[in-house]
Amino acid sequence: MKSDEIILETSAKLDIASVLEEIAGEVAPLVGQGEVASYIPRLARVPANRFGMAVATLDGRLFSVGDAEERFSIQSISKAFSLTLALEALGGELWKRVGREPSGNAFNSLVQLERENGIPRNPFINAGAHVIADVILSQTPKPLETLLEFVRDRSGNAEVCIDEEVASSEREAGFRNAALANFIRSFGNLDNPVEDVLDFYFHQCALQMSCTDLARAFLYLANEGRCQRSGESVINPERAKRINALMLTCGTYDAAGEFAFRVGLPAKSGVGGGIIAVVPKVLTVAVWSPGLDEKGNSLAGATALDLFTTLTGLSVF
Ligand code: DON
Repeated sequence: MKSDEIILETSAKLDIASVLEEIAGEVAPLVGQGEVASYIPRLARVPANRFGMAVATLDGRLFSVGDAEERFSIQSISKAFSLTLALEALGGELWKRVGREPSGNAFNSLVQLERENGIPRNPFINAGAHVIADVILSQTPKPLETLLEFVRDRSGNAEVCIDEEVASSEREAGFRNAALANFIRSFGNLDNPVEDVLDFYFHQCALQMSCTDLARAFLYLANEGRCQRSGESVINPERAKRINALMLTCGTYDAAGEFAFRVGLPAKSGVGGGIIAVVPKVLTVAVWSPGLDEKGNSLAGATALDLFTTLTGLSVF
C-alpha cells in the first residue's frame, strides 16, 4: 500500500463530524471575542458572533458545523489563489520580484520595503500581493474575470462573487495600500498603473465565500496540484509544494511562527475572520469567526484549528 493510501485510510477512520462538533463546543466561549476588522468600514458591520468550520477530504467527503454555509469576505485568503495564477503565468521568474521569507512585520507595514528596494518579503503581505496583482494584470487580458472563473471552478460554486460594496469601502479607506503600491512602483517593481493594481487587489480581497466553498476550492493544494473531482492538473506538484510551504511560513502574517507551533499546517488567514488550512494528501479545513486577535487572525478560528490537529493528529509534524 502506498503512503498516500495509508494516510487516506487513516482519515477515513476518523469521525470528523464528531471532531467538528466537539471543536464547536470548545470554542463557543471565544466566539464574539476579539475585534472585527474595522479599518475597512464595510467589514465593521459584520456580526462577531459567528462560527463555522468545514472539512473537505481527498476522497470526496465534506463535513461542516455551525455557520459553514454563510459567505464572508475572504480578504487575504485570496492571496493564495492569486499566487497560484501568477506562478502559473511566470514560473520561477516570479521570485525576482517577490521574496519567500516571513516578514516578521505587520501585513501592511511599509518599513521593510525601503530597506529592501521595493522587493516585498513574500507574496502574502499586502506589498507582495500588489506585485502578484501586477503580474496577473500583465499576463491576463481579463484579470478579474480570470480570477473569478478560477475560484468558481475550484470551489465548484458558480455563485461565488465579489462584493462591490466591500471593494469600494476598502478603496475609500485604502490609504496604506495606496502608499505601498506607489512606493513599490517608485522602485520599478510594478509595470501597471497603481490605480489598476489597487483596483484588482481590492476586488480579489472582496471575494465572498463560505467555509464549504473554501474547503473545496483549496483541495488542489492538498492533492499535489490536481483537481480532486476530475484529477486534472491545476498547478504542477512542485508549485503546489511551494505554495503550501509559503502558507506555513508566511500565511498568517507575523504570527506564522506561533501558528505553526499551535496548528502545524500550511494556512492562509484573512481579516474577514476566515482561515484555510491544508493537510497535504488528506484534506482541507476552513474556519470562520470574525473576531480577530491583535495580529489580525481569527481568534476562535486559530483555536479551532489548534484543536483540530490536536484531536485528529493530522498536522505536517
Ligand atoms: O489590504 C488589506 O488590508 C485587506 N484587504 C486584507 C488584509 C488581510 O486580510 C491580511 N493581509 N495579509
